[in-house]
Amino acid sequence: MALLDILHFPDPRLRLKAVPVVTVDADVRAIVSDMLETMYDALGIGLAATQVNIQQQIIVIDVSSEKDAPICLINPVIRTLEGSEEMQEGCLSVPGYFENVTRAERIVVEALDENGAKQEIAADELLAVCIQHEMDHLEGKLFVDYLSPLKRQRIKKKLEKTPSSKSPSNDDSHSSAS
Ligand code: NI
Repeated sequence: MALLDILHFPDPRLRLKAVPVVTVDADVRAIVSDMLETMYDALGIGLAATQVNIQQQIIVIDVSSEKDAPICLINPVIRTLEGSEEMQEGCLSVPGYFENVTRAERIVVEALDENGAKQEIAADELLAVCIQHEMDHLEGKLFVDYLSPLKRQRIKKKLEKTPSSKSPSNDDSHSSAS
């Protein structure tokens, strides 16, 4: 197990598109395990492989309050999207910023789990938002892309001035970053 470095906006590597995992093998399971450790260490609720500079379609999520319900989505595909909901989002790659984003309220997603078994997850509320946020990462998209260009530019300038090691920590217990 190892902690992985999380890329920060506006790092151009966050714009790379992830490719599907061909075989869910021991190497992939090692990535999943490192990603979970990295996500929990950073107090996040979700992490996409793109954020740790691995261009494979791998996502880990845990929206439980006890942090004991990890979910792993490999090669996720959205089957249905319903409704719309605005929720405040944060991102481990955009530390210290929380903004409202509108996304589908309910989704059904199909993916492989860490053993390569097919799973279908029906999600709403925070889990639905988190899955959509992480799937965006795999496409090279960030939640700041939903904000006005002016707001995005302001965040970019501030983060460019912040050395990675001194990033503001996510200490707001009411907000969660992914
Ligand atoms: Ni994120």
